Amino acid sequence: MTRMKCFIEAWYCENARKLPWRDTLDPYKIWVSEIILQQTRVEQGIPFYYNFITKFPTVQSLAAAEEDEVLKVWQGLGYYSRARNMMKAARVIMETYEGNFPKNIDELKRLPGIGNYTAAAVGSFAFNARMPAIDGNVRRVAARFYGLHDSIGTPKSDSQIEEKLFKQMEACEPSLFNQAMIEIGAMICKPQNPKCDECPLQNSCIAKLHDLQRILPLKKERKAPKTVFLDYIFLECEGITWIEKRPENSTWKGLYEFPNIQQSQETQRKNPFHDWFLKPDETEIKEPLQLKHQLSHQTIFATLWQFSCKEANIVEEKKEGKLKVKLSELQEFPVHKLMYRFITELI
Ligand code: ADE
Repeated sequence: MTRMKCFIEAWYCENARKLPWRDTLDPYKIWVSEIILQQTRVEQGIPFYYNFITKFPTVQSLAAAEEDEVLKVWQGLGYYSRARNMMKAARVIMETYEGNFPKNIDELKRLPGIGNYTAAAVGSFAFNARMPAIDGNVRRVAARFYGLHDSIGTPKSDSQIEEKLFKQMEACEPSLFNQAMIEIGAMICKPQNPKCDECPLQNSCIAKLHDLQRILPLKKERKAPKTVFLDYIFLECEGITWIEKRPENSTWKGLYEFPNIQQSQETQRKNPFHDWFLKPDETEIKEPLQLKHQLSHQTIFATLWQFSCKEANIVEEKKEGKLKVKLSELQEFPVHKLMYRFITELI
């Protein structure tokens, strides 16, 4: 078997970046960092990490927090179900494990939002459990090192990589091994222009030996994002407006936004909110604001229709289920990125 471990541990000890979550063995902080890093790059993740652990320094504090508070701290990272799952997991840890993270990989995987990667990362970094932590970076390093020609990211390819790396970990510190693989993936074995001359694995890397760095890893095909048309309404009524909370089982669930209608196709820019008003003549309509917003699975074409009127002119039933808020307090609510973009344009 081609060996990688001693080189990479030594390389890691000399070359690793100093990152705040690498200075701790606290599984809670390691877990927080890993979930944040699934959402954003290291440089952007650092302030989010400090902010999160300042607001919620322990698993107890996270378990006891209100959902809106946590979503507010998560704002900007996107994919809010991760934050919601963290709260659920924190509650399970408090109720089932008396506030202590389980040390065992299988038990970690049973917690909400903790999959193979996170369990292996938390288990190895905090408790030195032997399990390869396989994320996108590590898949790339492994595919090149072993010259794997299967598409990466499939369950079959992941278990093949896991088996190989598990063997490599036999005689080494799991924590250092996993950190080193992640670091090589991030700093050396980059998708484009890998720095093979600086790589501790260069002498045994199949991709380097056969000049396959540009070809490997092979990626599976992605589905094209769906196009969605959304019309939003912003009412400005003497310093107040209305917002609503996204329902369960929807994208952005639990976050706030202006009331809206999803259209099956583009509406030719016709105002879809005329039935909101008793006296349309007294309603001042401003130019609609149009934004294109890209999510991993959706391309959203959003139109924000802006009206200014007296509250008495709004049809009563249109306000049902909506929250009346002061414009000056709008920024206190956890909102998704598209809504944040609207607010930034308005205020
Ligand atoms: N990306 C994911 N986990 C990481 C870690 N612990 N350090 C640096 N980058 C990472």
